[in-house]
Amino acid sequence: MSTSLNPTALVRLLGSWNSGALPAYRELADVVRLLVMDGRIPLDVALPSERALAQTLGLSRTTVTAAYASLREQGFLTAGQGSRGRTRIPHRTAPVSAPGLAVPEGLLDLAYASLPAAGEVVHRAFADALTELPARLPGFGYDAVGEPALREAIAEKYTAEGVPTSPGQILVTSGAQHALNIVLRALAGKQDRVMVEHPTYPNALDAIRAAGCKPLPVALPSGTSPAWDIDAMVATMNQQRPAMAYLVPDFHNPTGRIMSDLQRRRLTRAAAASGTVLVVDETLRELNLDGVRTAPMSSFSPAVVSIGSLSKSHWAGLRTGWIRADESLIVRFVAARTVMDLGGPVVEQLAAARLVRSFAEPLDARLEELRHNRESLLGLIAERLPSWEVERPRGGLTVWCRLPLASSTALTVLAPDFGVRLAAGPRFGVGGAFEHYLRVPYTLPAAQLEFAVGALRAAQDKLDASPHLRRTLKTERPPAVAVA
Ligand SMILES: Cc1ncc(COP(=O)(O)O)c(C=O)c1O
Repeated sequence: MSTSLNPTALVRLLGSWNSGALPAYRELADVVRLLVMDGRIPLDVALPSERALAQTLGLSRTTVTAAYASLREQGFLTAGQGSRGRTRIPHRTAPVSAPGLAVPEGLLDLAYASLPAAGEVVHRAFADALTELPARLPGFGYDAVGEPALREAIAEKYTAEGVPTSPGQILVTSGAQHALNIVLRALAGKQDRVMVEHPTYPNALDAIRAAGCKPLPVALPSGTSPAWDIDAMVATMNQQRPAMAYLVPDFHNPTGRIMSDLQRRRLTRAAAASGTVLVVDETLRELNLDGVRTAPMSSFSPAVVSIGSLSKSHWAGLRTGWIRADESLIVRFVAARTVMDLGGPVVEQLAAARLVRSFAEPLDARLEELRHNRESLLGLIAERLPSWEVERPRGGLTVWCRLPLASSTALTVLAPDFGVRLAAGPRFGVGGAFEHYLRVPYTLPAAQLEFAVGALRAAQDKLDASPHLRRTLKTERPPAVAVA
């Protein structure tokens, strides 16, 4: 069904958009663009006619015509019949080069923190897996717990790390995000509280909310010693009795922190006492850039539910992850899983089994590259954005930056003009927190990081030059870009 926005509704959404600091058509276009990116004006909606909007806003029709023309030019309105263009988001916007830097093809994506495949290793695993396929073809192809060879390989990996594990304690999933959704469906009821670190991984927050649960944020300390406020977490568990806690103690996303063994021990003890199930996301555990030694959380308590994935160590395109838990819980997870899907694809799992068996193979080169990129990014930020405070990540893929002003969403909205796509700080928190923060991944090679930091600098300069623009672009909700 086609929808349209009437002028009164649009004027209400626009709020006090017109400061007079820039030409009115420019301000009008900027705010409409923001509303579209932010999801407050849905896609494929016809905007009011130029005449009707001009009348309602008390503006000249020329101003509205120019604003609509600018939106069309930027790809936020279809070229449709007459003036009733429909809202859209451009596949790619035409980036403006930051001074002295070549513009890349399309947007440089800083919202995803992910690496390309460990190509040769992954390719070989798939080629080998295909040789096993003919023997599988007579079967049905359904298996809700996962390929036996893969479950075995994952169990052996845990056992080798000091956590004795049987294949029956492993459920193979389509990645860590799928795993978290299964755990939520099985263990958390609607209205249940789920304790989270604050900040935390945005897709986990979305999953918790989508399950009808209430995220219970506990702030990470602003300094890194200690890296977690275990006292606050213990108090939260004792007082609020959350059903679950979702934690990323191994190279936490977005800060790159690692939790000490002492903190792990305290946390698991307190969780057992309060009846809170600790769900520990180990997706980034292998990206140990500084060689920090910690014991897996599940070595401190058999009640811990661990989630793992090959997405960061090998390739997100494998869409392969797992849950490690007590066998009685795995039975419940399988029941919850089959509501959503009936099993994972066979060839991917056969390939994953090979990758898990020789897990370390691609890691040395990957870690070396990431160490190099981390230094490049930290150096570039220190040089080009000296007013940003950064926390040196011990591992993982991202740097969590504190901005001098609460301008994260505004930077995110402007960034595509300079060739980059960002995830705003508030995506990593609840209640609009973290407008002062931005996560920047070091997954790109140095030359692209240089472009990215140049673009961030150019976007920040634009904001610095116009406090009004900063105010206007500051929204209640950050743009709903996909994040990983
Ligand atoms: C902490 C964390 N958990 C889960 C995921 C998603 O993992 P997967 O691709 O296995 O679903 C990511 C990806 O960025 C992540 O950083």
